[in-house]
Amino acid sequence: MTYQLPSLPYAYDALEPHVDTRTMELHHGRRHAGYVERLNHVLQQCTDLEGLSLEEIISDIRVVPEELRQELRFNGGGHLNHSLFWHILGPGKGPKRPEGQLLRAFESTFGQIEAFRQEFARAALSRMGSGWAWLSLDNHAHLEILTTPNEDSPIMLGYRPILGLDLWEHAYYLKYPDRREEYIQAWWNVVHWDKVAELYVHFLEMVSRT
Ligand SMILES: [Fe+2]
Repeated sequence: MTYQLPSLPYAYDALEPHVDTRTMELHHGRRHAGYVERLNHVLQQCTDLEGLSLEEIISDIRVVPEELRQELRFNGGGHLNHSLFWHILGPGKGPKRPEGQLLRAFESTFGQIEAFRQEFARAALSRMGSGWAWLSLDNHAHLEILTTPNEDSPIMLGYRPILGLDLWEHAYYLKYPDRREEYIQAWWNVVHWDKVAELYVHFLEMVSRT
C-alpha cells in the first residue's frame, strides 16, 4: 500500500496566532511529507506486509524485518501521529472544552477539565527531548494520559489515541523558541474538541464490541 500526505482540513494560517503559518507549512509540507515518503520507501521493501494496515504493523512491529524495523517504526509512527494531530486541531470554531459523553468521561477520570489540562501539561513538560503527549483509551475504554518518545505511537502500547500534542521542537520553535510551556498553553486554543469527541465515541464502540 502506498500512503499519501493527507490534506490539511484548514489553511496553513488558520491556527494563527497560536500556531504560526511558517511552522505549519514546514511541519505539514516538509516534515510530515518526509515521513510519508520514507514510509513508502520502507514498505516497498516489505512485500510480506501487504494487506496489513499501518496500525496493524505498528501495533506489532516484530512483523517487520529487523533491518527495516526502526525505519518503519519512526516513519510509520510519524505518519500516524501527524495525521491525528492535524485532524484534532482547528481554527477555534468548536467548543472550548469537551462536551457530552466525553465531558462526563473527563469528569469521572480527572475531575474538572482544568485538572486534566494541568495533568496533561505536566506530562508534556516532563517528556525530555522529542516526543508526544497523549490522551488515549486503554483496553477497558478508560482515558489515560501518557507520553511517548520520538515518533512512537500509543498504538504500539495497545492504546487508542484521541488527542496528541507534538512536543518536537519543529512543532513550535519558530514562535516559542525555548518556551515549550507557552506553546502548550497556546495549543489548547486550537484543539478541535468535536473531533476528539468523535474519536472517543468511535473507539468506545470498538472496545464495547470486543
Ligand atoms: Fe511533528
